Amino acid sequence: MKSTAPGAPLFVSLEGLDGSGKTTQIVRVADFYEKRNPKGVVVTREPGGTEVGERIRNILLEHGSLHPQTELLLLFAARVQHIKTVVAPALALGKTVVCDRYQDATYAYQGYGRGLGVELIDGLSDLLAVPLPDLTLYFDVPVSVALGRRVGRSADRIEAEGEAFFERVREGYQARVRAQPDRFVVIPAAGSLAEVAQAVDTALMAHL
Ligand SMILES: Nc1ncnc2c1ncn2[C@@H]1O[C@H](COP(=O)(O)OP(=O)(O)O)[C@@H](O)[C@H]1O
Ligand SMILES: [Mg+2]
Repeated sequence: MKSTAPGAPLFVSLEGLDGSGKTTQIVRVADFYEKRNPKGVVVTREPGGTEVGERIRNILLEHGSLHPQTELLLLFAARVQHIKTVVAPALALGKTVVCDRYQDATYAYQGYGRGLGVELIDGLSDLLAVPLPDLTLYFDVPVSVALGRRVGRSADRIEAEGEAFFERVREGYQARVRAQPDRFVVIPAAGSLAEVAQAVDTALMAHL
């Protein structure tokens, strides 16, 4: 889905490990486009972003056992609902869509973290015509930093995974960046809030 208006890309995703700072910085990203797109900005998230998607999110995050393929298909079910009823309609109205996690998270968490591989995800994405973002900010942090920022927060089913799982997830994200370098900006996210915010601003300005 390519940007049509001169200026800002229309569909932006934020990616990274739990604790990498996505939800902290998304406000800044939204604000940046609010100032530049008179048609407005939709801030949303995956899994979720729709009523049924949020219900699927609860199933995904509550503790209990879920086969990795079931997890993957639930994510795609939520994604399709989100694309059809939120993302595509907003883009059609010329709005900027800023999404906290999206398709790359599925590659990283399910493809690499769960070990499902990329072929199944590639296949489903093609069959379902899942649109790619115009720009993806990938918040890259060492696993130890991400885990350290989560201290005191209760872990959901996926956050409760061990360090080795998150190392694979980080590898998965880095592999996505290598595969599609033009779409990504890597934000070194281990620094202070001010440093990360500065890197976000620089990335957004560069893509105008
Ligand atoms: N650059 C940073 N330095 C220190 N702490 C941070 C930084 N960015 C975020 N945090 C803190 O780390 C925690 C996780 O951040 P959050 O934005 O929720 O991450 P994510 O949405 O990627 O899981 C929050 O408590 C947040 O305040
Ligand atoms: Mg978050």
